[in-house]
Amino acid sequence: MSRALVIKNLHLTIDNNKDAVPILRGINLDLQAGEIHGLVGESGAGKSMLGRVILEILPPRARITEGSIDYPTRRPLSGKTKGRSAARHRPHISLIPQDPMTSLNPVKKIGKQMSEILRLYQTGRARSMLDQAEGLLHEVKIKNPARVLQQYPHQLSGGMRQRALIAMAFSTKPQIIIADEPTTALDVSVQRQVLRLIQDLQKQHGTTILFITHDLGVVAKICNRISLMHSGMILEHGNVAEVFCTPSHAYTRSLLAAIPRYDRPLRELTPVAESLQLQLHREARAYDHQRRN
Ligand SMILES: Nc1ncnc2c1ncn2[C@@H]1O[C@H](COP(=O)(O)OP(=O)(O)O)[C@@H](O)[C@H]1O
Ligand SMILES: [Mg+2]
Repeated sequence: MSRALVIKNLHLTIDNNKDAVPILRGINLDLQAGEIHGLVGESGAGKSMLGRVILEILPPRARITEGSIDYPTRRPLSGKTKGRSAARHRPHISLIPQDPMTSLNPVKKIGKQMSEILRLYQTGRARSMLDQAEGLLHEVKIKNPARVLQQYPHQLSGGMRQRALIAMAFSTKPQIIIADEPTTALDVSVQRQVLRLIQDLQKQHGTTILFITHDLGVVAKICNRISLMHSGMILEHGNVAEVFCTPSHAYTRSLLAAIPRYDRPLRELTPVAESLQLQLHREARAYDHQRRN
């Protein structure tokens, strides 16, 4: 199987006043073309930052200090590609963000926002962009897409906003999509529908997806492979079935033991041990110390 992305020994720091704080510590990750790869870890592990590295939208004080990122199947950029939205919607990679409300422009109608993205990559009349946008909304199963094009984000439900953002993410036919906790902000019943939608579109378009989540249940449902992250490091990776059946890292075992299962009593649930968390943080600091000296 061909590879869509190869990251080798990636180190990233953020400069604060005095020193450079390590955020990513020697990340190795490859994405196979057409897979859904789950990137799992608790809050603060560095998942979003790794996503931003791939999207090439780093915060101002972040620096890659070592390592390489290679997109073997990268297409050259074309069209008018400037500004922030251009960076988010380059043809080969796009983002499905965590929070659909803050990711849409509150003062622009949905149709206008979608046309603007389409116009970055193709020339054509405004009317044809709107027709395309309507088709895209139809594809993400939004009822009455013509009306939604004329609405502002606040007039839509959270689920509809996320569907519109998913339509935008797929609209430029990206080779890779970074889905950064795309269902975390949604109600449980809507979560399921949105997951199904992402899965269907991925199959239809053959897109490679890095699916960032803290939910192992979601990974079991939709991912082919998984990487587990803590303190800016990938602790374990492999096929989902293998990692779930024979986890090799203590952290993975402890995360798996913390998933509620209908066939086991709740009292058998064991939360991730604080001592293990502390040990992982200590190991990360020891690693930093060793690299400095
Ligand atoms: N813009 C930023 N400036 C400084 N530190 C940041 C910034 N964004 C993230 N961080 C830090 O980087 C680490 C990883 O954050 P993040 O990638 O958002 O974690 P996750 O997505 O796994 O919850 C955290 O310690 C966070 O505090
Ligand atoms: Mg995050």
